[in-house]
Amino acid sequence: MKKISSMLAAILVASGLQAQTHTFDINTSKMGGAIPSTMYGIFFEDINYAADGGLYGELVKNRSFEFPQHFMGWKAFGKFELKNDGPFDKNPHYVRLRDAGHSDKFTGLENEGFFGIGYQKDAEYRFSVWARVPNGDGDVTIRVLLCNPNTMGERQQFSEEKVVVSGKDWKKYEVVIKSKATVDKGTLRLMLARNSKTVDVEHISLFPVDVYKGDENGMRKDLAEALEQLKPGVFRFPGGCIVEGCDLASRYQWKNSVGPVENRPLNENRWHYTFDYRFFPDYYQSYGLGFYEYFRLSEQIGAEPLPVLSVGLSCEFQNGSKRTDAHVPVDQLQPYIDDVLDLIEFANGDPAKNSWAKLRADMGHPAPFNLKYVAIGNEQWGDIYIENLKPFVEQVRKKYPNIKIIGTSGPDSEGKAFEHLWPEMRKMGADLVDEHFYRNESWFLGTPEAKKQYGPGCGANRYDSYPRGKNAPKVFAGEYACHGRGKKWNHFNAALMEAAFMTGLERNADIVEMATYAPLFAHVDGWQWRPDAIWYDNLRTFNSCSYYVQQLYSLNKGTNMLKLTMDGKAVAGNEGQDNLFASAVYDKNSNEVIVKVINTGDKAQPVTLNLKGMKGEHPATLISFHSDNLTAENTLDDPKKIIPQESSLTVSAPSFATSVPARTFYIYKIKK
Ligand code: AHR
Repeated sequence: MKKISSMLAAILVASGLQAQTHTFDINTSKMGGAIPSTMYGIFFEDINYAADGGLYGELVKNRSFEFPQHFMGWKAFGKFELKNDGPFDKNPHYVRLRDAGHSDKFTGLENEGFFGIGYQKDAEYRFSVWARVPNGDGDVTIRVLLCNPNTMGERQQFSEEKVVVSGKDWKKYEVVIKSKATVDKGTLRLMLARNSKTVDVEHISLFPVDVYKGDENGMRKDLAEALEQLKPGVFRFPGGCIVEGCDLASRYQWKNSVGPVENRPLNENRWHYTFDYRFFPDYYQSYGLGFYEYFRLSEQIGAEPLPVLSVGLSCEFQNGSKRTDAHVPVDQLQPYIDDVLDLIEFANGDPAKNSWAKLRADMGHPAPFNLKYVAIGNEQWGDIYIENLKPFVEQVRKKYPNIKIIGTSGPDSEGKAFEHLWPEMRKMGADLVDEHFYRNESWFLGTPEAKKQYGPGCGANRYDSYPRGKNAPKVFAGEYACHGRGKKWNHFNAALMEAAFMTGLERNADIVEMATYAPLFAHVDGWQWRPDAIWYDNLRTFNSCSYYVQQLYSLNKGTNMLKLTMDGKAVAGNEGQDNLFASAVYDKNSNEVIVKVINTGDKAQPVTLNLKGMKGEHPATLISFHSDNLTAENTLDDPKKIIPQESSLTVSAPSFATSVPARTFYIYKIKK
């Protein structure tokens, strides 16, 4: 820290300004290495009702009657019967509806959606059903009603259309219904017209017409747009623990998630029972948001897809790390290895030569998705992981030498498993190593207490001394978030800690190739895990403060690193650095020097940007992210309470004196 003369200091103190400045030396004419385009990305897992009930546009729960309790999510009334010889072999159940047998009685079905169905006034909804008249003895009219079960009004239904089913063969029927009301917890009701013939119904579905990009089997628009607005460089999917499963049977199986949606078999979602204090017995995966939709969405939002596949080990937290039958023996791994090889073909292969590639083309995307990465295993550890991973690496390398392989360093940011796995990953030649850290404020700040507890690898200096070199694996910070002590939910302070820590990612962009905050999504009525980046109910959404931090980094990631030091050292909140964290990049597209400064302390700090290589006046933008209340957060009712604010200023170079307020994340974007 450079000290100004004591007389000047006294004058500044007397005039209310602080006496010491912190000079950040930034050599703007010496370009550092390139910032990877993948640097800031997203990680999607179907936790917190992120897929069904979240991003996936489907509004009907248990649309194929395949939940183990076949009418879960439904109320069936009148004369109905569950049958199991339907047209879709992997989803064989359907419902037979018969006339109620009395002019004042009714037969039908009502679906509760996911915590209700959200309807917007004047919006259109596409209803579809597979149906037949089993006896072929005439037409059957099904009334399709959008209902509000909680109304004190005269009628529960506020919109109605009809579907007329005819013929003995199964066919898909569709009708678009315009909603005449806004209702956040509505239902979908089907009623047979009076004196009806018998009808069979299967795969009953309702989507908003206005889904993201208008896609068939599309995504909820506001949530997909929130992803797009993050401009993510990489998109990790589908988990997380989901990949491993609580047991092998419930692991994510991508092959079940492609092809016609009607015939994608249901999977148990391990998050329905992971926490008995946040228990959701109706949480299943329809696989409607499957690998095709994932690759399509990656392409639409401009992110590199990064699929994670099972290494043949079910969740080690839940099953231990011994070779029990919870895990696949090395000599029986071939089907699992084939899953990886076939996924690469599904994504990149030639439809004329490979059946998985042909399926991709048949689904609507003949061109390859240009998959470049595969991660094998999620939070695995111990020798069983190394033993299982080896044959995967050998076969993927042999067949697809250009695909980058990502291994894991276990569930923790340090400790026994971590220390064991990193050298093993190096030996195996992994291209990247996935690290996870859900840690408290002190860890993110790298305080002396945290260093005592966790070792030197916490805080923004974490990557400063990671091994470099031609064959050194790169880092993928695949899951991280600040879990505030005693405040394990989204609040401004947690986001500020993340912003401070991320200066260390940026400073080390030569070794850190990608980073993805976690988890991404949460339904306010159905979450199991928090904090999360994006929250929503059936109609509304809000971005958390952590989301904005991710976005600020992503939109201001620059193209090249710039060295930034104070007294020759990285600015990482260390002793004598007065709670300041900082990093700098240059963006050759906008010709801007971008300086990020975070003050995590409770006093404003004077800072001087010493912009070596620049002189004169430069137009600049200052982005400020700040809240006076550290535990404040955005909410559904007040979604923009804490958002970044932009202002213009002129920066005089080379030496620009400024002040960074307490508890603030500042970004200076200075035209060079
Ligand atoms: O992000 C939630 C969970 O945290 C992930 O499924 C798992 O990988 C980690 O333990």
